[in-house]
Amino acid sequence: MMSASKWIVFVCLITCFLKCSGSEAKPGDNFNVQCQGPRDADSDTVMLKWIRPDLKSEGYVFYFRNNQTQKDYQHPSFLGRVELRDPQMKDGHVSVILKNVNVNDTGTYECYVGIKGSKPQLISTTKLTVRDSEINAKPGENVTLQCQGPRDADSDTVILRWIRPDLKSEGSVYLFKDNQIQKDLQHPSFDGRVELRDPQMKDGDVSVILKNVNINDTGTYECYVGNKGSKPQLLNTTNLIIKDSGDAAGHSEDGGDKGKQGRLRVGLLVGIAFLVVVVFGVRFKMYRRSSQQNHQPPADEAAEHELQDLNPEPSKKLKEEEEEPPVET
Ligand SMILES: *[C@@H]1O[C@H](CO)[C@@H](O)[C@H](O)[C@H]1NC(C)=O
Ligand SMILES: *[C@@H]1O[C@H](CO)[C@@H](O)[C@H](O)[C@H]1NC(C)=O
Ligand SMILES: *[C@@H]1O[C@H](CO)[C@@H](O)[C@H](O)[C@H]1NC(C)=O
Ligand SMILES: *[C@@H]1O[C@H](CO)[C@@H](O)[C@H](O)[C@H]1NC(C)=O
Ligand SMILES: *[C@@H]1O[C@H](CO)[C@@H](O)[C@H](O)[C@H]1NC(C)=O
Repeated sequence: MMSASKWIVFVCLITCFLKCSGSEAKPGDNFNVQCQGPRDADSDTVMLKWIRPDLKSEGYVFYFRNNQTQKDYQHPSFLGRVELRDPQMKDGHVSVILKNVNVNDTGTYECYVGIKGSKPQLISTTKLTVRDSEINAKPGENVTLQCQGPRDADSDTVILRWIRPDLKSEGSVYLFKDNQIQKDLQHPSFDGRVELRDPQMKDGDVSVILKNVNINDTGTYECYVGNKGSKPQLLNTTNLIIKDSGDAAGHSEDGGDKGKQGRLRVGLLVGIAFLVVVVFGVRFKMYRRSSQQNHQPPADEAAEHELQDLNPEPSKKLKEEEEEPPVET
């Protein structure tokens, strides 16, 4: 009975921990997908497969064998975006960097490793969520939409375009070209409400301030930057949410990000709290056992032994999981 309820706690704990270890990234980030293969693996002997089991169409995220990347078998959306962190795969280090992530990279990444022709084994699973930045604000506030352009961007030659792709009617949120704002190409609802945070665009800062926001400003804002003669590139996407009364946590700037981090932290705290409870539970049981040793009926003692066997195991496993996922068989 006791051991069963303990097990439920462990399962919850492990589930929570795995969930907490899921990672978030923003579009454009480079994401490091960790995997530790067997120590004796190296680039000459290893067969390494990174897959996304949730992906409908065929192809690997990354496939490496015979001492080289097998691009022919790679899913087109990952072509040229995945590389080994350590090309030598020293000590079985087979983590990869997924470059320039986008929302479609949200999913589960599985790392399979085989050595010298053996069947590749699942080593680790990583959950990635790619989400746009989110800003929460109340009507009447001024909101900064951040965007970092090339450091050498020059207001003489830069083309800066902020758009709302979800807006039906034509016009930009903000268009800066030929060293000035192009008001005739601006959407009327943004007329007179948008200005550069730094009119000098020093160090490529092309953020804008959207003043006196209202409910209708809720939406997705995209920042495109280019130079005379080059096609403007999408550099940032931000979801702006304007809520009337809003919760107390709604601030004008990156409040959403802080919320996310906060939730992650709460999750971690819950995990640590569980761990403390488990460790102290074991201590307490051991203490009680030693102080009651002589009075314990035999049946109970057997149960205690069972507990003792079970308890240290999962917490140890958890600690290992933090550094390197155990090899699954
Ligand atoms: C494996 O590839 C690396 C880099 O491409 C090369 O330096 C090394 O000699 C190769 N090893 C073998 C056994 O072919
Ligand atoms: C994500 O996938 C959708 C549907 O396949 C596609 O329309 C969209 O362009 C993709 N987005 C990116 C950033 O690749
Ligand atoms: C928004 O900015 C304008 C001037 O740019 C200022 O007058 C106004 O007080 C600001 N509003 C808020 C809520 O900070
Ligand atoms: C994109 O926008 C978000 C929210 O405004 C900001 O936190 C982030 O730094 C921006 N990234 C770049 C590369 O400009
Ligand atoms: C928002 O849009 C609706 C419909 O176009 C319009 O009736 C309303 O006045 C707008 N609200 C503000 C604050 O501009």
